[in-house]
Amino acid sequence: MKTLLLNPGPVTLTERVRKSLLQPDLCHRESEFYDLQDEARARLLNVYRLDPNEWSAVLMTASGTGAVESMIASLVPQGGKLLVVQNGVYGERIANIAKQYGIGYESVVHEWMQAPDLARIEACLDASGPFSHVAIVHHETTTGRLNDLQALGAVCRARGVSLLVDAVSSFGAEAIDFDGANVAAVAATANKCLHGVPGASFVVARQHAIEQAASRTYYLDLARLAKLQAQRNTPFTPSVHAYYALVEALREFEEQGGVCARHARYAALAEQVRSGLASRGMASILPPEQSSVVLRSYALPSGIAYEALHDGLKAHGFVVYAGQGGLSKQLFRVSTMGDIEAADMERLLQAFDSLLR
Ligand SMILES: Cc1ncc(COP(=O)(O)O)c(C=O)c1O
Repeated sequence: MKTLLLNPGPVTLTERVRKSLLQPDLCHRESEFYDLQDEARARLLNVYRLDPNEWSAVLMTASGTGAVESMIASLVPQGGKLLVVQNGVYGERIANIAKQYGIGYESVVHEWMQAPDLARIEACLDASGPFSHVAIVHHETTTGRLNDLQALGAVCRARGVSLLVDAVSSFGAEAIDFDGANVAAVAATANKCLHGVPGASFVVARQHAIEQAASRTYYLDLARLAKLQAQRNTPFTPSVHAYYALVEALREFEEQGGVCARHARYAALAEQVRSGLASRGMASILPPEQSSVVLRSYALPSGIAYEALHDGLKAHGFVVYAGQGGLSKQLFRVSTMGDIEAADMERLLQAFDSLLR
């Protein structure tokens, strides 16, 4: 029995992407590697139809956190100041990265279940500035909440502040209005909504933001990575096979209809799971209009601990995900990324029936 991954990445691969890992061994100093790198970078910009004269996609061999760290450590200029919007684990992580690098920052901290409070954010921007950047997680995977980039971007634009976005679990499946939301950069990874494998991550940044970058980190120095990649070069040995898979996943993504199609596909699966679990007494923690289509959180059924639920579903071929921190006793999470069909989610609901019987 094939096990389907309903955790928020890595995802269940399509056979096409899995087979791409079997391509020839490739030295990263050969022209074939630079062709691969060029194609990945061009296709990443094309996901959101970004102008290559204005934007750069910069690849790195790292997990999603590596890309977020590169973005924060590089794009807040020396003497710049960052405001971090926190409403979950990944917002907290951005603040920890800023602290680690000695970047001047303030946080507007929310309860994990709360949406960002724009009035508090505006008050902080006005009282404790000047800020160069605001950082936020687009889809806060802690709860499944989709934070409103557009509204925050408008608040930032009015003050001449740019947005740095952790789009690790939204890039490719949720709309991002790069200009409207005053975005300077987004960080993301191959192995979530794009359906690649772990090991390749990237920052999509405005070129003028890269030109003003600080050099606080060695390996993750975004300006150096961008400069060398633009010259068909690379400073280090990249995860070549993860790049094969990323390019194949991006070709497949485009052929399947890009962001709109992926959003529609995830939305249908998420709604199927939400209504199916609701009818079995497991309500979604957030209303659909506040949730991403990528992952949703559900109340644990009464009388069953998460571990028993997880192990029971795994025996039926499904890997679900625990709540983080204090939420682990209250909720579980189901992602519908990857090579998953409606029939699979029907089988998932039947597996719940047999466990809850
Ligand atoms: C929003 C968000 N940011 C960052 C990360 C960290 O990614 P990684 O575990 O690949 O470093 C995740 C992982 O799920 C995430 O969902």
